[in-house]
Amino acid sequence: MPKVTILPDEKILSRTLAAQLVAALREKPDLVLGLPTGRTPIRLYHELGARYAKGEADLSRVTTFNLDEFLGVGPEHPGSYHAFMQEHLFARVNVPPRQINILNGAASDPAEECARYESAIVAAGGIDLQLLGIGTNGHIGFNEPARELAGKTHRVVLKASTRRSNAALFGGSEANVPREALSMGMATILRARRIIMIATGKSKAGCVNRMVNGPITTRMPASFLQLHRDVELMLDEPAAGELSVVGSG
Ligand code: F6R
Repeated sequence: MPKVTILPDEKILSRTLAAQLVAALREKPDLVLGLPTGRTPIRLYHELGARYAKGEADLSRVTTFNLDEFLGVGPEHPGSYHAFMQEHLFARVNVPPRQINILNGAASDPAEECARYESAIVAAGGIDLQLLGIGTNGHIGFNEPARELAGKTHRVVLKASTRRSNAALFGGSEANVPREALSMGMATILRARRIIMIATGKSKAGCVNRMVNGPITTRMPASFLQLHRDVELMLDEPAAGELSVVGSG
C-alpha cells in the first residue's frame, strides 16, 4: 500500500516535496529522476528553480527522463512537453542539456525511438526517483485505461479526456491536440526504485481513492502502484477528500 501524506494545500505540498528533493540530491547528487508534465508539478518545478537561484540546490549531476511526449510534435513545437519542461524547470535549474532525456515525438521511426529510450534508461542505471501525476481517468504517463497495458515505452492513442486536458498547450483547442503520444510503459515506471505521486484538487479525489482502495486493474493504470514497495502519495486536502476508507479495499 502506498504511504499517503496529506498536506493542507498545493503550495505547502510543492514546498515540502521540493525540500525532499533537495535533500535527496544532497544524498545522491547524480540522482536519476523521472519527471511528469501537466498542471500539478508546475509549482514544484518553480519552487526547485527558486531554491536553485538561492544556491540551495545543485542539479548539475542529475539525469532526467520525462514520461511522455505527443506524437508528431518536435522539441521546438510550443505545445511540446520539451517546451513545457524548458519553461517550467530546465530554464530555471542547472541540469546540463545532455543529461535531459525527453522522447522525440517527431522521430521518423517512433518504435525505434521508444526502444532507444528504454536503453537510455537502462544505460543511466535505472530511475532512482520517479515523480508522477495522475489523470482523472487513472492514467499515469500516457498509459490510458485499457483492456491491456504496455510494459515498455510505446506508442499510445490518447483518450478524448486527456486531449481535452492538454488543449491549453495547443491554443485552447482539443482538435489541435495530437491523437497519439509516446509514453514510458507500466513496467518502465514500476521499475523505478522510488515513486512519489502528487495529486491536487477536488477533481482528483475520485481517482486517488480508486487507486489506493480499488482493485488492481488495467482500467485504472495507477492502481498498479499498489504493487510497488516504495510509493508515496502526496495529496493536498481536496485530492484526499474521498480517502475516508483508506485500506478498506
Ligand atoms: C504527463 C503525465 C500525465 C499527468 C496527468 C495529470 O507527463 O504523466 O499522466 O501527470 O495527466 O495531469 P495534470 O497534472 O495536468 O492534472
